[in-house]
Amino acid sequence: MKITSNIKLTAIVGLIIILGLIGQVSAQTVWLDELDLSAATQGWGVPMKNKSIDNKTLTIAGKTFERGFGTHSVSSLLILLEGKATVFTAQVGIDDEVAGHEPASEFELYGDGKKLWSSGIMRLGDAARPCSVQLAGIQKLELVVADGGNGNYYDHADWADAKFETTGVTTFKTYNPVASEPYILTPQPSAAPRINSAKVFGVRPGSPFQYLVAATGDRPMTFSASGLPKGLKIDTQTGIITGSLSKAGTFEVTLGAKNAKGKAGKKLRIVCGERIALTPPMGWNSWNCFAGEVSADKVKRATEAMVKSGLINHGWTYINIDDFWQNHRDSKDQSLHGKLRDEAGNIIPNTRFGDMKTLADYVHGLGLKIGLYSSPGPWTCGGCVGSYGYEKQDAESYAKWGFDYLKYDWCSYGGVVNGMPDNDPYKVSSLSYNGGSQLATAIKPFKLMGDYLRQQPRDIVYSLCQYGMSDVWKWGDSVSGNCWRTTNDITDTWASVKNIALDQDKSATYAKPGNWNDPDMLVVGTVGWGNPHKSKLKPDEQYLHISLWSLFSSPLLIGCDMEKLDDFTLNLLTNDEVIEINQDPLGKEATCVQTVSELRVYVKELEDGGRAVGFCNFGSDIVDISYKDFEKLGLNGKFKVRDLWRQKDISNIRTQTGELMLKVPAHGVVLYKFTPVK
Ligand code: GAL
Repeated sequence: MKITSNIKLTAIVGLIIILGLIGQVSAQTVWLDELDLSAATQGWGVPMKNKSIDNKTLTIAGKTFERGFGTHSVSSLLILLEGKATVFTAQVGIDDEVAGHEPASEFELYGDGKKLWSSGIMRLGDAARPCSVQLAGIQKLELVVADGGNGNYYDHADWADAKFETTGVTTFKTYNPVASEPYILTPQPSAAPRINSAKVFGVRPGSPFQYLVAATGDRPMTFSASGLPKGLKIDTQTGIITGSLSKAGTFEVTLGAKNAKGKAGKKLRIVCGERIALTPPMGWNSWNCFAGEVSADKVKRATEAMVKSGLINHGWTYINIDDFWQNHRDSKDQSLHGKLRDEAGNIIPNTRFGDMKTLADYVHGLGLKIGLYSSPGPWTCGGCVGSYGYEKQDAESYAKWGFDYLKYDWCSYGGVVNGMPDNDPYKVSSLSYNGGSQLATAIKPFKLMGDYLRQQPRDIVYSLCQYGMSDVWKWGDSVSGNCWRTTNDITDTWASVKNIALDQDKSATYAKPGNWNDPDMLVVGTVGWGNPHKSKLKPDEQYLHISLWSLFSSPLLIGCDMEKLDDFTLNLLTNDEVIEINQDPLGKEATCVQTVSELRVYVKELEDGGRAVGFCNFGSDIVDISYKDFEKLGLNGKFKVRDLWRQKDISNIRTQTGELMLKVPAHGVVLYKFTPVK
C-alpha cells in the first residue's frame, strides 16, 4: 500500500513539474498588432497597425514605437481572451502628429465589463504612460480610448508596444458583437391617405405662411383645410397652405386628404404669436455628405430627391445649405474665389450658387423650405466669409432671398474675443473655443444676430452652433434661438453616437416648443463629408440613433446624399409613428429613468397622456429580460403597448401584474409607446 502511494505521489509531482515546464515553454507573447484590428470602432479614420491614424510612425512625446495600434478617440476594441491571457502591457499616449491642437483622451481597459485600468487624462506632449494589467481568468477584454473632455477632435491615440502574455495560445479573436445585415422594420405606408405633418405650427403675425399637408397614400390626392383663419388658403392639388396672418391667435383647423382608396383627417393647431419651430425642424443639411463641395446644383438635386423619394410626405421639410456657399479667404478652388461683399457690405454668394433667391423660390415651389449657414466670426469654420461686423446686412439678405433657417456657427469668433479676428480657427484650434466659456462673451454674438433675425419680415428658424459652451440650453431661448447644438460634431461611428447620446440628459429639461436641444445631424445613408461612403453604423445602431433622436425631440436633419437613398435608409426615415414621437406637440425631451447594466430606459411624456419608451442597449451583449418596473416609467393602471418600429400593438398590460418580455439587440433598441386605456 505504502509503495503504491509513494509511486502515486512521485507521479503527481512529476506531472506537476512537466505541466509547469510545458507552461513555461508554451507561455507566449501575442502582439496586439497581430490581431484583426478591423473590428475596432473609432471616432474617425480606420484602425491602424503599427502606424498612427495619419499613417505615420507611432510617436508619443518625441519617442517613436515600431509596433502598436493607432486609433482615434472615441475608440473601442473587443478581444475574446477566454481566460488565456495572463498580462497586457503597453505604452499609451497621444500621437505627436496632432501638434497645434489640444487633444485630450483617456485610455481604459475593461475586463468582463469591469474597469481594470485607466491612464487618467492624457494630453499632447505627455510622455507615454505604461500600462501593465493582470488578466488571469478574464474572458472578454475591451480596450477603450475615451474622450478626455475636449470633444475628441484631434485625439490620435496610440496603444504602442501593446502585447499580451498568454497561457500558450498564439492569437486572440477580436469581435464586433453587432449584427451587420440590414433589416427592414417599418411597414409600407398604405395606399389610402394618412396625414403625417405636425399637429401644431407656429408663425409670427405678418410673416409669410407656408405649411405643407404632408400625406402618404396613392396619388392623385386632393387636400382640404376647414376652419382656416382669414389670410390663409390651401392649394387643394398640392396641399400647401400659404398666406399670412395679421393678428396673433390660436386657430384649430381640420385638414383632409382624399384619394381613390379613401380619406384621412387630422387636426392642426396654428399658433400665431412670437414663437416658431413649435416642433423640432426636420429636413436635410449638406455638410455631412458634401462638406466643402456643396453647390446650388447639388442642393436642387437634394430638393428633388426629397420629393421623389417620398420623404416629403412624412414631414421632412428643410433643405439646409451648410458652409461653403460664400466665397473663401484663401482657397485654391476657383469657384470659391471672388469678392466677399459688395460696396454696401452685402454678402456675395460664390459662383457655385449665384442667385440665392432663385434657388429659394425653387425649393419653396416644391413645398419645402430652405436654410443656410454663417458664423458670428469673420470666417466660418471652413474659412469662408462670416457675418462679423455685417450681421444686419446678412440677416436682411437672408430674408430678402426668402430663407427660412439659419445655422450660426461660433467658429472664428474665438479670435474676435482674443482681439485676433483674422486668425483661422482651423489653424489655431485653441482660439476656436476661446471666450465660449464666459457667459457674457458666449451670449453676445448670438443675441446680436438673433435680434436682427427677429426684425425681418419673415420667420427664420435660428439654430445656434457652438457645441454646448456655457450651457447654451440655459440661455438659447433668451437670444431667440430655436435650437442649439449640445455637443461637438457627430461622426458615423458607434463611439460618437453613443458618446453624444449619453451626454443629453443634462439639457433635457430645457426642451420645449420652440426650443430644441440639438445633438447634431443624422449619420445614416451615404455620408462622408465630401468623401462618400455608407454610414459605418450597423443597422441596430441606426435604429437606436433614430429612436433616440426622436425621443430627444432633436432637430432631425438627414446628413446623407439624398440621391443615394437605399431601401434600408429610406425605411428608417419614413416610420410615421417614430417621427410622431419626435414631433409630439407637448415638446418634452426623454431622459433616462432607469439603468439595468448597460440597458438604459428613456421615457418621453406625450401630449395624449402616453409615454414613448426606448429600451436602449449600449452594451455588447443582447439583453433578454422580463420587464416589470412600470412605475419607473411613470405608468399606472392599464396600458396598451405598441411597438413603434413594427407599428404593431403587442399587448394590453396592467402595470400591477403585467410583464413585458424584452429582447434588445447589442447596440440596439426596442421602442414602445404606452397609451393609457380607459
Ligand atoms: C462645424 C459644425 C459643422 C459644420 C462645419 C462647417 O463647426 O459643427 O456642423 O457646420 O462647422 O464648417
